Amino acid sequence: MRHTITLIPGDGIGPEVTAAVLRVVAAAGVSIEWERHIAGVQAFERTGKALPVELIDSIRRNTVALKGPVSTPIGEGFSSVNVGLRKALELYANLRPVWNLPGVPARFEGVDLVIVRENTEDLYAGLEHEVVPGVVESLKIITERASTRIAQFAFDYARRHGRKRVTAIHKANIMKLGDGLFLSCVRATAPQYPEIVYDERIVDAACMHLVMNPGQFDVLVMPNLYGDIVSDLCAGLVGGLGVVGSANLGAETAVFEAVHGSAPDIAGKNVANPTALLLSAVLMLRHIDEVAAADRIMKALETVLSSGATRTRDLKGSATTTEFTDALCRAML
Ligand code: NAI
Repeated sequence: MRHTITLIPGDGIGPEVTAAVLRVVAAAGVSIEWERHIAGVQAFERTGKALPVELIDSIRRNTVALKGPVSTPIGEGFSSVNVGLRKALELYANLRPVWNLPGVPARFEGVDLVIVRENTEDLYAGLEHEVVPGVVESLKIITERASTRIAQFAFDYARRHGRKRVTAIHKANIMKLGDGLFLSCVRATAPQYPEIVYDERIVDAACMHLVMNPGQFDVLVMPNLYGDIVSDLCAGLVGGLGVVGSANLGAETAVFEAVHGSAPDIAGKNVANPTALLLSAVLMLRHIDEVAAADRIMKALETVLSSGATRTRDLKGSATTTEFTDALCRAML
C-alpha cells in the first residue's frame, strides 16, 4: 500500500535528520509519497505566515505528518509553529515513550516510562498581556474538557499497552483551582480503569523521584508545561534528546516529531543524531499499520547501537549523520 504523508523538514538540523529518516524508512520497504511543506522562519520570509494554511490543509487531508524541528524566536517575532500546529489540529495528546535503547550510554538502566502531556492549554494558551508597565500577566488555562480528555487518553493508552500504573503529575497544593481541576478530572477518570493502579505526585517531588529512581514510573499524565520540562528531564535519563521520539495525537490527525529542537549549535555539520526522529517515524509507522517495517527499523537500530561501532557524537561516538544512516540501512539488507 502507498501512503501519502505530509513532511515538514523544519530548520536547523531538521533537514539533515529528516533526510536520514526518509532513507531508513525507504530501506525498510514502506512506500510513501511525501508532501513537503515549509514552516517557521522560511515560511514567514516567503509568505508572511510561519504556519501556512497549505500545510494545515495538507495534514488534514493526509491525516498524518512527520515533522522536523522548527525554531521559535525567543521573546519576540512569530509565535511557535509547534504550538500553533497542535492547536490548529487539536493534537491534544503528546506521547513520549522513554526507555533505554541497547548500547546507548545512559545514567540509568531499566527505564521504561511513557509521558502523556496535555498539548493544547495551560500556560501554552499564549494569553499574555502587560497589566501596567513592568507587570505582565500570563494566563494558565485549565479546562475540565481538556483535562478529562487527556486523562482518558492516558488510561486508554495504559490499558491498550498492558501498562500497570498511571501517575498524575500536578502542583494542586499551590494552584488549587487550576491544577486542582486537572487533578479532579484524572481522579474521576481513574475508577473506569480498575485494573490500573492510580497515584499522584507533586511535580517537584516527581522530578526528584525521576532522577533518583526512574524505574518506579510507568505512565505519567500531566498538564502542558510540566510535560515539556519533565520530558526533557526524562530524555536525559536515557541518553539525551537525540534518542527520544514523540507523537502529537488528535481525534483526526497525528503529527510525529522528535522531542529535541533545531539544535542551531550543530546545524549543517552532519553530526546530528537522527535516532529521535527515527523513533518518531517508528511510532508513525505503527500508527499507519506498517508494523513489520517499524519492527525492522527497531531491530536495525538496536543492532547498530548495541554494536557500538557507529554512534553519533552525542552518544560518545564519532560517526557522522550520514555514516550512522548508512549503517542503519545496511543492517536492514
Ligand atoms: P535543542 O533541542 O535544539 O538543543 C539542545 C541541545 O541538544 C543542543 O546542545 C543540541 O546540539 C543538542 N541536540 C538536540 N538534538 C540533537 C540531536 N538530534 N543530535 C545531537 N544533539 C542534539 O534545544 P534548544 O537549543 O533549546 O532549541 C533550539 C531551537 O529549537 C529553538 O528555536 C526552539 O524554539 C526550537 N525547538 C523546537 C522544537 C520543535 O520543533 N518541536 C522543540 C524544542 C525546541
